[in-house]
Amino acid sequence: FKKYNKVLKEDYEKWYAEHENDREAVAKDPMRLKFHLMPKTGWLNDPNGLCQFCGTYHIYYQYTPFEPTGELKLWGHYTTKDFVSFVDEGPVLFPDSEFDAHGVYSGSAFVKGDTIHYFYTGNLKYFDRDDYDYINSGRGSNTIHVTSKDGYQFSKKELLMTTDDYPQDMSCHVRDPKIIQKGDDYYMVQGARDKNSQGLILMFHSKDLTHWEYFDRIVPKEPFGYMWECPDLFELDGQMMLVTCPQGVEAEGINYQNVHQCTAIRIKYDFENKSYEISGNDEFQQLDRGFDFYAPQTFEDEQGRRILIGWMGIPDAQYTNPTTERGWQHALTIPRELHMKNGRLIQQPIREIEKLRKGELVCSFSDKGRMESNLKLYEAEFHFTECTDAVLTLKKGVTLSYRDGLLTLDLGDCGAGRTTRSVRIGELRDLRIFADTTSLEIFVNGGEEVFTTRVYSSQGELSIDGDCAGTMKIYCLRPLE
Ligand code: FRU
Repeated sequence: FKKYNKVLKEDYEKWYAEHENDREAVAKDPMRLKFHLMPKTGWLNDPNGLCQFCGTYHIYYQYTPFEPTGELKLWGHYTTKDFVSFVDEGPVLFPDSEFDAHGVYSGSAFVKGDTIHYFYTGNLKYFDRDDYDYINSGRGSNTIHVTSKDGYQFSKKELLMTTDDYPQDMSCHVRDPKIIQKGDDYYMVQGARDKNSQGLILMFHSKDLTHWEYFDRIVPKEPFGYMWECPDLFELDGQMMLVTCPQGVEAEGINYQNVHQCTAIRIKYDFENKSYEISGNDEFQQLDRGFDFYAPQTFEDEQGRRILIGWMGIPDAQYTNPTTERGWQHALTIPRELHMKNGRLIQQPIREIEKLRKGELVCSFSDKGRMESNLKLYEAEFHFTECTDAVLTLKKGVTLSYRDGLLTLDLGDCGAGRTTRSVRIGELRDLRIFADTTSLEIFVNGGEEVFTTRVYSSQGELSIDGDCAGTMKIYCLRPLE
């Protein structure tokens, strides 16, 4: 497939029928994850359209089945009822119209009565134009609406807004619509880059989900990056939160070390008066401290839980993921339930993940105590009664150490060139670690901090050493069905 051509459903089906061998080869790769969602072949990025409808959870995602390096995006689709067994439903939205021919970009779902409304960005790339300029004229960003009565069959694509409908001081980078309802009014947030290359959020208003008008914008107190992607505005435990992904933020010591960031902001938004206040001195909470976390999306499920799923990857990554040469790249994180605690957003794995546990080992460790295991696929929970200094080995060659208030993940030789990430914490009270074949998700102090990363150690190991005491539980995990 040419990178910038339309792909129709029939084209994909023909391609799919001809690539059985590629799927078989990828499925045999020992680097495949066991309890994370991945593309069968090719590339995956942002989770899209997350929702629960009539009991079924729908997880769509940015998908390029054709090649592991991305480019032309479709929406892939997984469903589950229990987060243990998943069905790969195959792609549902194709770049097949004049509005989205160069990519069905990220978007979200909004459930209203018996209908799921989807809003996404139809991307057009204008490489052949004489006035091509990446920032101001290089693309068309169309806001598109489709609906479904079941999550599988979609209505005709409806063009809601084009680049000309956005405020005129915007560059051509406006994308990733997400909806929030307030009374009888609907608001859409979109990520944007203005013509001065400052990142911000645009808000649009509608009474009927079809007619949208520009409403307001949310800008940081001080400029913070050139583009904000994938915004998500939602209420959590009585607090309005804005999660977004700023690009182009300079590293500051141990903070903002990745090429692009994912942050949460506490905001009081007054919809009647179009005014807002961003709270907190350090208003940007880094949502993750690892190497691979970006473009998360949240939704409220039928039990009222606010669930987040992120992309376990980052755009413009400055390293080569070793799975690329094996025909696939990237995965989604395990789903996490969100809450507020002391003005911060905390993340905890959803409880369904406990259904993957198969054996349990409980033990205590104390002063200079040592405990070892060679598990590759595990969940480990540590509760510290005291800890001044600790070194945990999470896989062979990969450590997490705590010293002088600094918690550091060190991938050693197993990070494909990436080594350490740190966070400063007052005390280390607990850890919950999920190790898959080539990933780690580490929840610190009840989810106040999280490290999400891919890691390529071929041998399992789990041990703890240091001046610390407490208990630990280890569970073997079984793969997703
Ligand atoms: C974030 C992102 C979105 C865009 C999508 C394209 O990773 O760049 O802004 O819609 O990916 O795949």
